Formats: sequence, structure tokens, C-alpha cells
Amino acid sequence: MKYVDLYMIHWPNERIPLSETMKALERLYKEGKTRYIGVSNFGPRLIEEAQSHLSTTEIVANQVEYGLHDMSIEADTLPYCERNGITVTAYSPLGQGRIAMELKAKTKRSEILYELAKKYSKSPIQVALNWVIWRENVITIPKASKISHVEENAGGCGWRLSPEDYERLSRAWR
Ligand SMILES: NC(=O)c1ccc[n+]([C@@H]2O[C@H](COP(=O)([O-])OP(=O)(O)OC[C@H]3O[C@@H](n4cnc5c(N)ncnc54)[C@H](OP(=O)(O)O)[C@@H]3O)[C@@H](O)[C@H]2O)c1
Repeated sequence: MKYVDLYMIHWPNERIPLSETMKALERLYKEGKTRYIGVSNFGPRLIEEAQSHLSTTEIVANQVEYGLHDMSIEADTLPYCERNGITVTAYSPLGQGRIAMELKAKTKRSEILYELAKKYSKSPIQVALNWVIWRENVITIPKASKISHVEENAGGCGWRLSPEDYERLSRAWR
């Protein structure tokens, strides 16, 4: 059978009742056309509302912007997802290129990325990506058109910053 693994709503849309969209997604789920349902750019209130329109399955993922450059989801969306077993898919984890620009400019906070890169034998970008996926329920989707970037980014996982280094980076970039 052909199916989509995860079908997500890209953005909340005020012109279309959420109940209608969720019922349509649930129908696809029941027909076996999608295995999982997710949302994107949803805060806790909207996730709850979306979930209330589903009776046979649960929202498994929320795709939101997250990275050293933007930690705003830590206020409520991230803890809400953590509590409810929802995977956070962090988009724009490199700030759409801004982190690489800071590294080039050698800003004060980017110096820590260089320092940790040396300590872990990784690149500063790999350290920045490892920071993003440090929490259990967070995965990330960096975009790269250069093959060398794709390869470098793949090395952002498979290892782990220590809790102390994770906190140090968080404090410096907050
Ligand atoms: N759900 C949503 O509403 C939403 C919104 C925005 C984005 N997204 C998704 O999020 C994904 C990524 O986000 P994004 O493109 O916004 O931002 P991003 O991944 O934070 O940044 C992409 C930029 O970083 C550069 N880059 C990537 N790897 C690098 C490396 N190792 N060293 C130096 N520079 C590197 C890329 O350059 P090169 O291209 O030259 O390699 C590109 O300019 C995409 O799949 C996008 O579709 C989703």
C-alpha cells in the first residue's frame, strides 16, 4: 500500500475551521493513507484544539523554528510538547545562514562554538546543531544545497554535548 508517513499542517489557517482540516486528516489516517498526523507553527492552545478534533489518533509532531538564534519556543511550546510526547521538528536550526555569518564575523558568542568544536573534534556548525537536538524530543531539518554542508550537518548528530556545555551555550546565546 502507498502511504505518507507523516502528514502535517504547514501553518494555522484562520479561514478554514480547524475541525474541518483535522477531520480530513483523520479520514486519511483511518484509510491508511497517512501513518501519522502533525502540525507546524502551532502553539499549545492550537495543538490542544487540533487534538480535540481527533478521536482515533494523536498529533505526533510540531514543526517550529528553533535554534541558538531563536529559543522562543522554550517559553511554552517546547515544554508543552515535551509533556505530551510530541516531537518538535526544529526548522531553520542555523537561523537561515545567520549562525554561519556570526561564525565568520567571530562574534563573542560564536567564539564558544569554536571552543567547543575544538573540545569535541567537531565543527562549530555541528556543535550548533547538536545543541538543537540535545533534548530528547527534538529533531531538526537543516537545509543545505551544498553537498559539503549536507555532509557536515550529518555530523551534528551521533554524539552529545555535556550538560555543562549545553547550558553554557544556552546562556551565551539567550
Ligand atoms: N514549517 C515551516 O513553516 C518552515 C519555515 C521555514 C523553513 N522550514 C524548513 O526548514 C528547513 C531549513 O530551514 P531554512 O532553510 O529556513 O534554514 P537553515 O537550515 O537554518 O539554514 C539554511 C542556510 O544555512 C546554510 N547552511 C547549511 N548548512 C551549512 C553549513 N554546514 N555551513 C554553513 N552554512 C550552512 C545553507 O547554505 P547552502 O544552501 O549554501 O548549503 C542555507 O543558506 C527547510 O527544509 C525548510 O523547508 C519550515
